[in-house]
Amino acid sequence: MKLLPLPHEVRQVIIRHYASPIKTDASQVRHDLRATSLTMGEAMLLAQIVSTFRPAATLEIGFGLAGSTIGIAAARKYLGLEGKHLTLDPYQETLSGSVGFVEIATAGLASFVQWLPEKSENYLNGASARGEGFDFIFVDGAHGTGQVVTDAFFCDQVLNPGGIVVFHDGLLFSTMAAVRYLIKERQYCSVDLPVDSKTRTTLRMLRYAPVLGVWYATSLISKMHRSLVAVRKEA
Ligand SMILES: C[S@@+](CC[C@H](N)C(=O)[O-])C[C@H]1O[C@@H](n2cnc3c(N)ncnc32)[C@H](O)[C@@H]1O
Repeated sequence: MKLLPLPHEVRQVIIRHYASPIKTDASQVRHDLRATSLTMGEAMLLAQIVSTFRPAATLEIGFGLAGSTIGIAAARKYLGLEGKHLTLDPYQETLSGSVGFVEIATAGLASFVQWLPEKSENYLNGASARGEGFDFIFVDGAHGTGQVVTDAFFCDQVLNPGGIVVFHDGLLFSTMAAVRYLIKERQYCSVDLPVDSKTRTTLRMLRYAPVLGVWYATSLISKMHRSLVAVRKEA
């Protein structure tokens, strides 16, 4: 995938968010971006994908501490895309201590994001019934196999032709199963992401082939950026 360079303004918003990785919520609970969020490089890559493809409707599963939200929404704001980026997370106000809200406000992105406190499986089921469509979906919610495969199943139902799904945690069995479903049973194609390091990619392929299968290692891990893996629906 030939990605356009990340606009300077978008890069700066992401750098500012990651400059202090510990986020303290109103109850003085500390949340560490390094434990649950995307890395800064992954957030930048998400922003680059959005900047390149200019998806009209974007959806995200897993608001959390807002690393991914900030990457996607900053790119949307820069592009001047209409509408809001939709993020789902039923535990934003509890487990994440509303850190996501504070961070998007600090980044000047609150009015570019719509949050719904719904579980992905419930929201997407309803969205599919209502005929809603998205052009870009980022999946980073709960990571059990049933959840990620269910997310992939419903994402397929609401993704417009030519749309892109990006998964975090591409080295988990659950993500492999979801990606395998979309490629083998729904005719998606894998998307080449810029690899973060050729050596690390080779080592990951060797290490994970026995766990996730040779097909996944050679066809997908070889195209991942850190733990991001992307697939595209036929146009
Ligand atoms: C790994 S964190 C997401 C991190 C976030 N993308 C970031 O960059 O900061 C996973 C999030 O998924 C949320 N989650 C768990 N189950 C979910 C579900 N069924 N639907 C939507 N979100 C869910 C959790 O509350 C948690 O905030």
